[in-house]
Amino acid sequence: MIVREQLMEKVVALCKRRGFVYPSSEIYGGLAAFYDYGPYGTTLRRTIRNLWWRSLVELRDDVVGLESSIIMNPRVWEASGHVGGFSDPLVQCLGECKERWRADLLTDTQRCPKCGGPLSEPRQFNLMFKTFVGPVEDSASVAYLRPETAQGMFVDFKNVVNSVRVRVPFGIAQQGRSFRNEITVQNFIFRVRELEQMEMEFFVRPGTDDEWHSYWVRERMRWFTEELGVTASRLRARPHQKDELSHYSKATSDIEYDFPFGWGEVEGVANRTDFDLRAHQEHSREDLTYLDPETNERYLPYVIEPALGVERTMIVLLLDAYDEEDVRGETRVVLRFHRHVAPVQVAVMPLSKKEELIAPAREVLGLLRPLYRTEYDQTGGNIGRRYRRQDEIGTPFCITIDFDTLNDRAVTIRERDSMEQERVPIGGLRERLRERFA
Ligand code: GAP
Repeated sequence: MIVREQLMEKVVALCKRRGFVYPSSEIYGGLAAFYDYGPYGTTLRRTIRNLWWRSLVELRDDVVGLESSIIMNPRVWEASGHVGGFSDPLVQCLGECKERWRADLLTDTQRCPKCGGPLSEPRQFNLMFKTFVGPVEDSASVAYLRPETAQGMFVDFKNVVNSVRVRVPFGIAQQGRSFRNEITVQNFIFRVRELEQMEMEFFVRPGTDDEWHSYWVRERMRWFTEELGVTASRLRARPHQKDELSHYSKATSDIEYDFPFGWGEVEGVANRTDFDLRAHQEHSREDLTYLDPETNERYLPYVIEPALGVERTMIVLLLDAYDEEDVRGETRVVLRFHRHVAPVQVAVMPLSKKEELIAPAREVLGLLRPLYRTEYDQTGGNIGRRYRRQDEIGTPFCITIDFDTLNDRAVTIRERDSMEQERVPIGGLRERLRERFA
């Protein structure tokens, strides 16, 4: 049993030890809430993106992709309400420590949680990072790093409708970096200042929006449990109370995970109505209405938006997968990743570095590499220790080539969770793994 309070600490340590997540620019002391992703973290992130893209775009005929720029005309952010309203209430400790806090996250807004000093009155702090476009740093050249990818889909709505064959209901999906100058950051990669969002704006006929909203909440819950293998009992969909809703939303349901620090948002599924298209139509003076080719009706579509971050998905997968068990008096740490999620799906390892084992090991590697994310481990040394290393990065199957292989042309499949071993002829290996991965 893992003590819940220690789980986050253990996952953070494993992430650094095994090359998932490092603090950004660590040799210079790091930078709060910025992270780098090591070799296995990078693969995990790519896998998350790919599984999302496959499910939301490639396997559907009603969603298309988009990559809009990170820096856009600043008027986009005036129209969307971000310049005026994308802010959190900031309070500062007036006592000893001078720490800054987000007032809405404090239970007691009178005294500093760190030193007990008095707190200032809250003031609104805009979370957008500012920069300048071109060589002159004046107010006319101010631009923003996007705080969400969503606005790209709204400002390109007309371009997409006019250039590819889409008909309402349809969606535009995008993955990409967003930036938020968060006031307080904690809980590892749960709240970061540079994040990667995966968002989809699904345009529907007004009046059908409630139904589509329910559909997308169900569909996104299914993605987490069935496609990523997240434990269903640790997930819930929580509808927002009226006073929690964003300025653009008629209804939002958060998909929440039972984190060690309590239930927290992983994904938001919002009914944004026609708020954004209407705002951009007004500010740009471009007609953004949609003409229904069947009914000849013109209207501004409503929008259902499932939106999440790669970092939150990643931390959910890591926390959900982390396990420890006692094996013959030793603690075995294992990430029980779903086989489709694991950064390494199959590790191929010759028992020793001896030349005669390398050739069959390379042959096995050649068979499996086109089909799975495969790692070749020729380090030699204690096989038990090598299995443990693979357990810690969550590899579902290890294939071991030993001296018997030279006689019987068979190899051992070792399964991560049960640690059971099965002898399989090299000729039947692909088929056996295909069954195991199905
Ligand atoms: N377009 C709507 C939108 O951006 P949001 O609830 O602010 O809505 C959507 O963000 C998702 O992006 C969140 O559910 C979360 O997964 C992720 N996210 C937002 N801010 C984040 C941050 N500072 N760090 C990590 N992930 C974040």
